[in-house]
Amino acid sequence: MNTKLLFADAGEFQTPMLAVFAVDLATGKDAKPLPALLTASDAISSAATSLLASGEFKATLGETLLLHAPAGLGAQRLLLVGLGKTNDLTPDKLRKGAGAAVRAAKPRAIREMAIVFPETSSLPTGLSARAIVEGAELGDMDYDTYRSDRKDLAVKSLTLIANQPDPATQQQLRTGFDEGRVVAAAQNFARSLVNEPGNVLTPTALGARTKAMCDEAGLKCEVFSSDKIQELKMNAFWAVAKGSAEPPALIVMTYEPATLPAPGTPVLGLVGKGITFDTGGISIKPAEGMEKMKYDMAGAAAMIGAMHAIARLKPAVKVIAILCSAENMPDGNAFKPGDIITAMSGTTIEIINTDAEGRLVLADGLHYAKTLGCTHLIDAATLTGACVVALGTLNFGVFSNDEAAWEAFMAGLTVSGEKGWRLPCTDDYRDHIKSEIADIMNTGKNRYGGAISAAMFLKEFAGDTPWVHLDIAGTAWNEEKKPWIAYGPSGVAVRSILEWVRSYA
Ligand code: BES
Ligand code: ZN
Ligand code: ZN
Repeated sequence: MNTKLLFADAGEFQTPMLAVFAVDLATGKDAKPLPALLTASDAISSAATSLLASGEFKATLGETLLLHAPAGLGAQRLLLVGLGKTNDLTPDKLRKGAGAAVRAAKPRAIREMAIVFPETSSLPTGLSARAIVEGAELGDMDYDTYRSDRKDLAVKSLTLIANQPDPATQQQLRTGFDEGRVVAAAQNFARSLVNEPGNVLTPTALGARTKAMCDEAGLKCEVFSSDKIQELKMNAFWAVAKGSAEPPALIVMTYEPATLPAPGTPVLGLVGKGITFDTGGISIKPAEGMEKMKYDMAGAAAMIGAMHAIARLKPAVKVIAILCSAENMPDGNAFKPGDIITAMSGTTIEIINTDAEGRLVLADGLHYAKTLGCTHLIDAATLTGACVVALGTLNFGVFSNDEAAWEAFMAGLTVSGEKGWRLPCTDDYRDHIKSEIADIMNTGKNRYGGAISAAMFLKEFAGDTPWVHLDIAGTAWNEEKKPWIAYGPSGVAVRSILEWVRSYA
């Protein structure tokens, strides 16, 4: 999508479709909806007067209504886009509204459109511009690459029009707008990777695509396989990997700021679970729904997306991303329940269930990050079904062993617009993973608090290093079709990880 920012009067702008945001001013539970446009343009308001008076449009979030040949406007069509109650308005509602506007254009084969920048004092200017561009780019994506009957309905050109004469405000708009483009491209790249099926996106292919992205972005990237993993004694990672005919990939991306930070400043480690297909291994999963386990590399994809954006936004902090990618398969060579494995850190692990493979590959990834000099760690993983049970599909689980790292992460959520909820991993849960015959075991002693048991396992490998763990099992896949985004990979956590990184710059 070609995006432009224009400072002009939107009423006069000639375009196939002009989208304008609307909020519901009504307060109180049973109050009749009172839709109002977020524009100071008299021309746009009068074109929509009778439509608003009709009561057909209630301005609920993602609701759209299209008016043809609007009187007095340069546009051929006027699209009203609901953002919900005025009191609940946030930049993230703009993100969703912009996505809904683009997704209303696509099936109508409208290739060019414009959005009126909302005139309201209640929202931060730069963040609003950023959110609109992000929402539009995210909304433009459809997962139809494998459909023979696909019609390319992408919106080719989008103009964001702000009637803003003040140079300082114009600059805020420009900065937000440019950032939005970078962040959306990064998130869409992550989404496209998660969409790939397991037969296409093997660990080797994930390594190749990551390398190609890094070459383009100017990031250092090394891709290792079985030999290096065994040489480093990443036996927990290797235990998972050795049951597949597909070789694993240990992917290491490095971003160094232009002016080298002083010694003693943070080095951030981003560790991602990259299971390109999770059958469960010998503890095999039921057939129903197993096809979705191609998304078990969404944590790695989130880190790739974050690095994609980091390479372009250039924060003043060193970042190393480590992706542990393998297929979890049942095979004559596969690891088994009862096996005892010595992880890279020296910790011995009793395998209870081979389907708890994510924590095994991450254990070695986290330890390896520390050996590379990382002082602060974050990991993302589609780690547990238990986290989906606990939090549903709106919030990902956030775990941490460090209040400052956790606070930095949570502060970023107000910028990213994503939702994460903290769950505990205090030492009193350590019993969950106590083994009778090894240092720890790879599941909890029962099903209770399964997301916490997994986090306790990882915490063992983070040790004293400040660490944040994101369990994105419930949020990495959009299960329902929403007006603003396609069904399928969500690209969750890219934006929040990026903000966490920027908080150290
Ligand atoms: N990739 C899954 C996590 C998962 C499960 C995500 C269901 C989304 C939906 C992970 O590797 C896994 O299988 N975890 C097990 C752990 C259990 C064996 C302790 C789980 O959650 O059932
Ligand atoms: Zn599993
Ligand atoms: Zn898994």
